[in-house]
Amino acid sequence: MKTAGANSIIILGGRAEYLRNGDIYYGYRQDSDFYYLSGFNEPDGVLVLCPGYEAGEHILFCRQADPKKIIWDGPMLGTEGVVRSLGFDVAYNIKEIDQRMPKLMAGREKILFKIGEDDVFDQRISHWMKSIEPNKWHKSPVPNELMSISHAIHDMRLYKSSDEIKCLKKSANLAAKAHVRMMQACRPGMYEYELQAEYIYQLTANQSCPSYPPIIGSGNNGCILHYINNDGLIQDGDLVLIDAGAEVDFYASDVTRTFPANGQFSVRQRDLYEVVLQAQLDAIDQVKLGKHWNDPHTAAVKTLSQGLLDLKLLKGSLDEVLEDKLYAQFYMHMTGHWLGLDVHDCGDYKVDDLWVELEEHMVLTIEPGLYIGEHANVPDGWKGMGIRIEDDVQVTKNGPVVLSDKAPKTIKEIEECMLGC
Ligand code: GLY
Ligand code: MN
Ligand code: MN
Repeated sequence: MKTAGANSIIILGGRAEYLRNGDIYYGYRQDSDFYYLSGFNEPDGVLVLCPGYEAGEHILFCRQADPKKIIWDGPMLGTEGVVRSLGFDVAYNIKEIDQRMPKLMAGREKILFKIGEDDVFDQRISHWMKSIEPNKWHKSPVPNELMSISHAIHDMRLYKSSDEIKCLKKSANLAAKAHVRMMQACRPGMYEYELQAEYIYQLTANQSCPSYPPIIGSGNNGCILHYINNDGLIQDGDLVLIDAGAEVDFYASDVTRTFPANGQFSVRQRDLYEVVLQAQLDAIDQVKLGKHWNDPHTAAVKTLSQGLLDLKLLKGSLDEVLEDKLYAQFYMHMTGHWLGLDVHDCGDYKVDDLWVELEEHMVLTIEPGLYIGEHANVPDGWKGMGIRIEDDVQVTKNGPVVLSDKAPKTIKEIEECMLGC
């Protein structure tokens, strides 16, 4: 409200329910911006912030608690519940929104909403504006300025409060437990989806769910960046790349570990793994106040390139490899993204064409990798190896804090973890 100004109104629509097939709906997940400002996790909510409004500045339109619906779907907060439990000043039945919203808008100069993100909601805003009744007390009855609220919310979400950090830590700890469980369950001859079952068990038994569809790729499947079929047979001698996070209290973790299916790295696997691990440590070392968004990526690319040269998987000088991006045939993605309520969280990466500076309370992933697919132009013994190591890292004034540090990461930690099962 401070950002918007006194004579404004902020309107934010929540997520609807979506049909999956037949009469069956997808599991409900509130929109992250809406949840961030409301804490409300039911469909059909509309949040209104009205600075100075006499009945209360924090208003929620929501479904009225309906005894008949409660018989089928269980408890709902309803208008009384959201005032009692979520701290809204006032709540109205969502069915009254067309009649009440023009009155809330009347006399305000500025409307802030997520312009252009939902055509139907845009039309409703326009309809409410047209329905404002002239009133001699309103200087300018119809607001004359429309502004997007998205950027202001996303800028707030970029800096995590201590409560948010606690949720992210819980989420990272749970993901780490799930990774340990999968490492310990893994045996050559299993299917990738059997490891997925171990992961889902660990999350479900802790009231959590995946923060994105997990990637469980053995052998060459580990080189497919967005592999989600997870239906391959895990063979003796394969590496298994698992990118799997948890969602805890709406906050995401995003963790990748790579380990040998049979519990012991081969010499080539070890050599390549050490390169990726060193690149990840060098990148994490850049997660410091005053560094810029791209510094971890630059550090990772340099270490990966030198490693590829040392292993004779690339030829030339380090400068050539960097200049001509020769590393890109084995490392084709960036080194991370913001993390929070969304796994690819909101927040600017560049401002005025400059990479943003890392500041306290930001959280990001660091996830370098090397992918030597079956068609790579290298000796056969290297083919079919995909390695990524991904951690969730908090920027603090004392340096990087790795939130996902409970997941085994060094070769020794991984081999000991797999042996100890
Ligand atoms: N799991 C998605 C990512 O690493 O970006
Ligand atoms: Mn990631
Ligand atoms: Mn990931």
